[in-house]
Amino acid sequence: MTSEWWRSAVIYQIYPRSFGDASGDGVGDLPGITRRLASLSELGVDVVWLSPFMTSPQKDAGYDVADYCDVDPLFGTLDDFDTMLARAHELGLRVIVDLVPNHSSDQHVWFQEALAADPGSRARSRYMFRDGKGDDGSEPPNNWQSIFGGPAWKRVTESDGSPGQWYLHLFDESQPDFDWASEDVQEEFRRILRFWLDRGVDGFRVDVAHGLVKHDELPDYTPPEDADSMGGIEPVPYWGQEGVHEVYRDWRKLLESYDGERVLCAEAWMPTVDEIALWVRPDEMHQAFNFEYVMSEWDPAVLRRVITESLRAFHGVGAPATWVLSNHDVIRHATRLSLASDFPQGHGIGPNSPGRPDQAAGLRRARAATAVMLALPGSAYLYQGEELGLPEVIDLPDEARQDPTWFRLEGERYGRDGCRVPIPWESDQPAYGFSETGESWLPQPDDWAAFARDQQIGRDGSTLEFYRRLLRLRRELGVATSDLEWIEGLPEHTLAFRAGDVAVIANFGQDPVALPEDAEVLIASGALDDGRIPYDTTAWVRGV
Ligand code: NOJ
Repeated sequence: MTSEWWRSAVIYQIYPRSFGDASGDGVGDLPGITRRLASLSELGVDVVWLSPFMTSPQKDAGYDVADYCDVDPLFGTLDDFDTMLARAHELGLRVIVDLVPNHSSDQHVWFQEALAADPGSRARSRYMFRDGKGDDGSEPPNNWQSIFGGPAWKRVTESDGSPGQWYLHLFDESQPDFDWASEDVQEEFRRILRFWLDRGVDGFRVDVAHGLVKHDELPDYTPPEDADSMGGIEPVPYWGQEGVHEVYRDWRKLLESYDGERVLCAEAWMPTVDEIALWVRPDEMHQAFNFEYVMSEWDPAVLRRVITESLRAFHGVGAPATWVLSNHDVIRHATRLSLASDFPQGHGIGPNSPGRPDQAAGLRRARAATAVMLALPGSAYLYQGEELGLPEVIDLPDEARQDPTWFRLEGERYGRDGCRVPIPWESDQPAYGFSETGESWLPQPDDWAAFARDQQIGRDGSTLEFYRRLLRLRRELGVATSDLEWIEGLPEHTLAFRAGDVAVIANFGQDPVALPEDAEVLIASGALDDGRIPYDTTAWVRGV
């Protein structure tokens, strides 16, 4: 008998660099996570997902892996991992780890071997090495641009000192793309999956799950001007190629040979939910992030459309819908939802960006948005710090920035550092309790004491207590396992639906929404106005 826990789980993303630092070097680590895990079971989440902590030169904050089966000394040791996992399981939390199969670090032993080997060799066949164009091969094989800006190909120098082949890097040049036609690559990733499954992990979040296989002919491709950095309008010759699905069918079988219900979750940044749903067909992954939802503006008509389409698309293939508002790649939703202008995904926001948001207004909206999200059927993802109401850090000094995007485009895009700042735990401790020494790899804002967990726990109306109560009600009332039914007849500026016997009503307009006299308000994202739901507020209600 399976529980299919992943169909309605709340999954909390830990960004290990910024969660808890036990060693005091200013970068979070596994022991730092272990000692804070109890706070997550108190919060009421079901699963933690850890962004990469494997051996890495950290050119892209660990998404550049040099050894997939070891822990980077920055984060601890494999023993620290085992301790963390055991503690999580003891607390009833499942653990998902990040797997990065599209590319490795250029420090991976295979890439070093490939550099030293000759064109056409087996070592080169594991990555996307190609001859350049032009008589002397001095032009890249095609015009593809890196997601982080600049060309996606880099030319190498052969061992005899001559200018040589080019290799593909869809991300930073320190992140060479694997060639998934290579049997070696396929077998190596089966080994890596087994390594972590044998240690007891409950599943994997699969990075760039739409990118592993490239179009055979590597045709030129220019993304439209307004495309999000991860996305693009189909067909894109490096995203969503048919062959990629074979990889996951293979992995699914491998996972099913293990006991317990181990899962795969796709980061498949495709433009529509219908395309994303292809990753969660019955013999592929269990879940896929819903990027259309992340990118939706705060507008009832837009949200109703995206929610309806998501449920249709995911349920159409027998998969649960997923919902997410924040992660380590996007502007935190307490800031993003109130931005006046549009910021393409991944470009970030900084001191010189237009349309500086109002923090209080942003938080109000974020809480209303979270109350909608956590009532939707399916599985929801939370990103560390959103339960504290953290905003994006806009005023990071240039010299502190670390996102490769910032460097590749010489500051033209700020990148994603603003959502990665270490989170505050205790208001009066060095680095707000993140690190005993007060070190912090990205500087924390001076006004973050008020966001610290110890200032919010047990305080009525705090964002933390609001999340705890939402999560408790969600579980107790079976909200996420009920079918969604739209409630009609309310003003246009509302979004209203039923989840079981709970009515969820969000008000996006200025006019307050009246409730029937005998309605029982279970929770509201902000204070009610004489029993009515004011603007940018969501209430869960019974008796409507
Ligand atoms: C998606 C990850 O979420 C992001 O942080 C990373 O930079 C890219 N994939 C490349 O691995």
